[in-house]
Amino acid sequence: MQELSSLVERALAEVAACAGLAALDEARVRWLGKKGTLTEQLKSLGSLPAAERPAAGLRINDAKTRVQAAIEARREVLTREEIERTLAAGKIDVSLPGRGEGRGGLHPVTKARLRIEALFQRAGFEVATGPEIEDDFHNFEALNFPLNHPARAMHDTFYFPDGKLLRTHTSPVQIRAMLERGAPLAVVAPGRVYRCDSDMTHSPMFHQIEGLKVGEAVSFANMKAMLHGFLQAFFEQDLAMRLRPSYFPFTEPSAEVDMSCVFCGGKGCRTCKHTGWLEIAGCGMVHPNVLMASGIDAERYSGYAFGMGIDRLTMLRYGVNDLRLFFENDLRFLEQFRTL
Ligand code: DAH
Repeated sequence: MQELSSLVERALAEVAACAGLAALDEARVRWLGKKGTLTEQLKSLGSLPAAERPAAGLRINDAKTRVQAAIEARREVLTREEIERTLAAGKIDVSLPGRGEGRGGLHPVTKARLRIEALFQRAGFEVATGPEIEDDFHNFEALNFPLNHPARAMHDTFYFPDGKLLRTHTSPVQIRAMLERGAPLAVVAPGRVYRCDSDMTHSPMFHQIEGLKVGEAVSFANMKAMLHGFLQAFFEQDLAMRLRPSYFPFTEPSAEVDMSCVFCGGKGCRTCKHTGWLEIAGCGMVHPNVLMASGIDAERYSGYAFGMGIDRLTMLRYGVNDLRLFFENDLRFLEQFRTL
């Protein structure tokens, strides 16, 4: 009996020392479980003389009941403590001001693109799109780059194993637009283009916008006026523009478009490499072969086309001096365009 009461004392002390529900459950198993210390005591009753068994049984059961009660009481305390802890951890000071939502903004290249689209839409152009994964027909062949044409080498094309490719320019959308819409038509086609080229001033992915106008009496002079008008509207300043003879397979004649430098007004500065001029676009009269490949009667219709780099237009408009800033997504850079 002496032994029993000291066992009970040990059990109660252990229960009181339990710091968590898991430990408490282990203590319960240790003392009251199937093989628990107090349960073993009951099992040993059989070895007592018959006359002593009832009284001993009572005492052992009483001991079990006391330990059981202590465990229940401790469980209640620990459960309440745990609830308190959970509540404290999730405590919210409802009087604090809200954190608010970070205000997002459009990427500068997106802003510039939307602005360019809006200006051309005002001049009667529709916005057209085409796939970034193109085939040789739309990206090259229909644009009058026959197989093995040397101008293909200028394009550093990314090819897929099945012969498809990442479009190297937005010009294939000219073909798609003409095949889908027929003549007359006036579209601009902005989008991503890809070339296997990467350094200070080249990114393997960049943005172009293509322009195409086809109609019954569309002239080179119309193109010149449209481009000049666009540049002055986009940069919101009076600019000089000049055309230099150039070569593209899909236009004839072809020209390179220069505008007077938006930073120095033509006096010469670092941006224009002291020439006073900035190269801004390629353009020309749509080659009859291109019209024919696109199902358009080249006797009846003529057209002009142009292509510009949106990233470059964006850099010049916002005074950004490094192309890579557009692709690094550093918020310190991007945040500056939120309100522009
Ligand atoms: N596709 C040409 C390029 O990526 C740009 C271009 C030049 C487009 C002349 C045109 C054009 O539509 O007429 O280099």
